[in-house]
Amino acid sequence: MRNWILAAAAAAIFVAPGVASAQAPIVIKFSHVVANDTPKGKGALKFKELAEKYTNGKVKVEVYPNSQLFKDKEEIEALQLGSVQMLAPSTAKFAPLGAKEFEALDLPWLFKDDAAYDKAMKGPVGKWLFKKLEAKGITGLAYWDNGFHMASANRPLINPSDFQGLKIRISGSKIADQYFRNLGSIPQIMAFSEVYQALQTGVVDGCANTPSNYLTQKFHEVQKHITVSNHAHLQYAVIVNSKFWSGLPADVRTQLDKAMAEATDYTNSIATKENEDALAEIKKSGKTTLHYLTPEQKAAWQKAMAPTYKWAKGRVGQEVLDLIAKELDVKMN
Ligand code: LMR
Repeated sequence: MRNWILAAAAAAIFVAPGVASAQAPIVIKFSHVVANDTPKGKGALKFKELAEKYTNGKVKVEVYPNSQLFKDKEEIEALQLGSVQMLAPSTAKFAPLGAKEFEALDLPWLFKDDAAYDKAMKGPVGKWLFKKLEAKGITGLAYWDNGFHMASANRPLINPSDFQGLKIRISGSKIADQYFRNLGSIPQIMAFSEVYQALQTGVVDGCANTPSNYLTQKFHEVQKHITVSNHAHLQYAVIVNSKFWSGLPADVRTQLDKAMAEATDYTNSIATKENEDALAEIKKSGKTTLHYLTPEQKAAWQKAMAPTYKWAKGRVGQEVLDLIAKELDVKMN
């Protein structure tokens, strides 16, 4: 027995230098709620690939998709507590971080197209919003695009009156809550991972999301009618715990910044096509009916939702609204 202990100790001394020089990698747990086969899912995997390559294995990125590790609210708490290091929540979910100004981005038909969205987020609006996170101990690294929302139910949603009395799942934004109320529906905040079952069992009647999320979560299989309304935009902010990020060795952080910049370009370059393909797939499935609004019908939705613009000031403050209005050359309230 004694000999065995001595032999083990000797072996430990012998291997110790090797063990000490091969430092354990820095682990970044990247949690998110959507499928791998979506713009965000692919972006997270791209970041993993580049981060591990550029740091020569000094960093290991573990991606946890599909709410595997945490659901929407829990992952934000986990980031604050340091049990995960990186997230990319929809900006509609930032109020619990103490940054409800992000909800200004949920105003209906705020971005008339992808170019308008891009312009706002790459310019002062995107930067100003990230500044809001600093005081909360959160660092914003990038914005990732996921296109425009559709809306659905088991009856066609063509005129504002079609929303009357429908329970609609929303992801968290009070702005979305407000405009669905403007339409006469009853919005309900619910974690993304619970939506399919809630639609299937009738806990809610409808929802809104982008084609890639409908397809990968199979929402279109439990919604008879989808209106390709493009009434809101879905974007993510990739965020990290500031203490963790600033505590990284500077050379490692430089490589991670590079990996993030490239993963961001990649994600934003595939988002539109991914959603077009997803929409084509949904159509081909024959499991739901797609509807497109005429200019008059769109105008009727816009008119019904317009009070949200006035209401928004009390929620997100005038400053961010002014900033967006200036950047996009639109009238806010
Ligand atoms: C949702 O909860 O509807 C989305 O924000 C999910 C996502 O991350 O795309």
